Amino acid sequence: MIIAIDGPAASGKGTLGKRLAHHYGYRHLDTGVIYRAVAKALLDEGFDLTDEARAVAVAMELDPEKFGHPELKTQRIGDAASVVSAIPSVREALVNFQRQFAADPPGAVLDGRDIGTVICPDADVKIFVVADPQVRARRRTLEARARGEEADEAAVLADILKRDERDRNRAAAPLKAADDAHVLDNSNLDIEAGVRAAIAIVEAIRAQRK
Ligand code: DC
Repeated sequence: MIIAIDGPAASGKGTLGKRLAHHYGYRHLDTGVIYRAVAKALLDEGFDLTDEARAVAVAMELDPEKFGHPELKTQRIGDAASVVSAIPSVREALVNFQRQFAADPPGAVLDGRDIGTVICPDADVKIFVVADPQVRARRRTLEARARGEEADEAAVLADILKRDERDRNRAAAPLKAADDAHVLDNSNLDIEAGVRAAIAIVEAIRAQRK
């Protein structure tokens, strides 16, 4: 089974993806990390984020062993990832890796922006997670502070709104719910309630198929 989870920045899709994968014994891929890794490599090497040739080369050479690097979580890299991910050839270079991950047994949960629409359009379950921008800004601010970073909630909110705008309006694989996605509003749910709601969606689909 393939479970696709999409949604805007800080909607909680990563946590839901991780928890769902754990619940079902599947593998989990946070696809945002891939774009973050491309962005970090470009910045580290001193290249411009719009240097298409270099960005594609970096995307083809990605080392998944480095996806756990703590700097990938920072707002600076998230913002840079949003820029780099708008380049169609960069997205194309990363499609096979994601599809292969999804296809390997026993099943997989992938979260991102275009999983249900582009990467796995035939996913068994598609969940589109939404949450109020203010709620997302609060969560991201608390997460950043927990990592020891300084974070100003108003600035985080402005960044989230800017990122939503860029991710939704780009030409290549924009952020949007697939027609057959189930929308999960995570604004007023704590983690456990969100996980229960996501499992309920998966179970309802499994029951329909029996
Ligand atoms: O989910 P995230 O904040 O880690 O994602 C960082 C950026 O990467 C996001 O602003 C847009 C891009 N992204 C994407 O274009 N497609 C995906 N499947 C995942 C992330």
